[in-house]
Amino acid sequence: MTKIIQKIGIVGAGQMGRGIAQVAAMSGFSVTLFDVNAEGLDFGVEFIQKQLDRGVEKEKWNSAIAEKALAALSPTTDITQLNDCDLLIEAATENKAIKFDIFKQLDEIAKPEAILATNTSSISITEIAAVTQRPEKVAGMHFMNPVPVMKLVEGIRGLETSDEVFDKVEAVAVQMDKIFIKVNDVAGFAINRILMPMINEAIYAHYEGVASIEDIDTGMKLGTNQPMGPLELADFIGLDTCLAIMNVLHEGLGDSKYRPCPLLKKYVLAGRYGRKSGRGFYEY
Ligand code: CAA
Repeated sequence: MTKIIQKIGIVGAGQMGRGIAQVAAMSGFSVTLFDVNAEGLDFGVEFIQKQLDRGVEKEKWNSAIAEKALAALSPTTDITQLNDCDLLIEAATENKAIKFDIFKQLDEIAKPEAILATNTSSISITEIAAVTQRPEKVAGMHFMNPVPVMKLVEGIRGLETSDEVFDKVEAVAVQMDKIFIKVNDVAGFAINRILMPMINEAIYAHYEGVASIEDIDTGMKLGTNQPMGPLELADFIGLDTCLAIMNVLHEGLGDSKYRPCPLLKKYVLAGRYGRKSGRGFYEY
């Protein structure tokens, strides 16, 4: 088993992967950022560079820190480049088949002592671990969006995750200056088990004519001190992701209270995914 985690590989340079890569590179880790899509990878690296520069402009950190972080980052479209990483954090699309396929590949490529973590927001860690030959070295590291801003990492223990591996994953999160909470592997884990039904209920409230989109969001922002209203937050997370998580809660927990609102389903069918597609409850 690796004594200390020094080299981290990130799979996926999307919204979450690039945020995790930025934070890891700024926290003293050497980072390999992998994506199959060269364009997406370039965009992710440029985004990180802009975030690092913006931090210098805002005097959050100095240019030496930004340069050091950028130098610690190696982008690649070749998955075999992850073979010397001590920890791999998968942040690909929230789709079981894609994640299973990635974990099978990582299990073959990664050194035997490497830890395989996933940033899944809802897929069972135990099930992902079962496609590998090292289920005791698989754990959930669920970061929140935007990763550089949000302090939480939800640590999820699969059925076979060893204490040693879970402790190492916690130590990495702490080195990234995050607060680590320990959660068991049950559908939706803790955060989405609580957050998504609130968002779904806000969608129902709008669907049933209780109040307008703007009034629901204003009410929740000013009445319960949330930084974003639930419908604005749904657009921010992505309505397709919200629907996928509600489906996991509904199927996994079997209670009708988790049924996704028909309006959420309709918006996703129409391609209204929220901010990323330019339209959700709001237009962007
Ligand atoms: N990357 C890095 N930094 C960012 C950022 C990003 N994408 N977006 C905003 N920031 C930074 C800004 O630079 C700014 O930093 P300073 O204060 O140091 O200058 C700070 O965040 C505040 O940003 P803004 O002033 O532009 O805007 P804001 O005050 O409205 O805050 C927000 C934006 C931080 C996103 C805030 O609205 C918020 O906290 N929203 C709720 C986010 C949330 O709930 N996330 C969890 C979603 S659930 C999830 O991720 C898990 C899942 O499985 C679905």
